[in-house]
Amino acid sequence: MRGQFNYSKKVLKHFRNPHNLGRIDRADGTGEVGNLACGDVMKLYLKVKDNVIEDVKFETYGCAAAIATSSVITDLVKGKTIEEAMQMTNKSVIDSLDGLPPIKIHCSLLSVDALSEAIYDFLKKSKKDIPEELEKRHQRIKILHK
Ligand code: FES
Repeated sequence: MRGQFNYSKKVLKHFRNPHNLGRIDRADGTGEVGNLACGDVMKLYLKVKDNVIEDVKFETYGCAAAIATSSVITDLVKGKTIEEAMQMTNKSVIDSLDGLPPIKIHCSLLSVDALSEAIYDFLKKSKKDIPEELEKRHQRIKILHK
């Protein structure tokens, strides 16, 4: 059954009961992005131990798709290594929600970009090498979202 905007059951489930909502004090990495077009904002916090994402939380001020994609991305990366989390794509997020209405695809970028920024922040703070691809993403996000 599909709801308003033709959202999948999974999107509605995450929207109504978001997982890992909140903030992490003294997070090891934080990423904040905004969508200039709609004004929605997402902040994602990472707690990392031995290169594994031990905890992840988010705060999103946005539409149902933005909240559902934020919620599901936290489920997808919890317990993963930083390298595994870096492989997260827009498509993985959308697939794990059984799709998004075409008009809402862009909303999923918010969560992937916030994750990238949080990983970037973590690597920078812990003085680790930043892969070229992540550096490029960071530059693109700075132009797009800030
Ligand atoms: Fe802004 Fe969905 S409409 S992120």
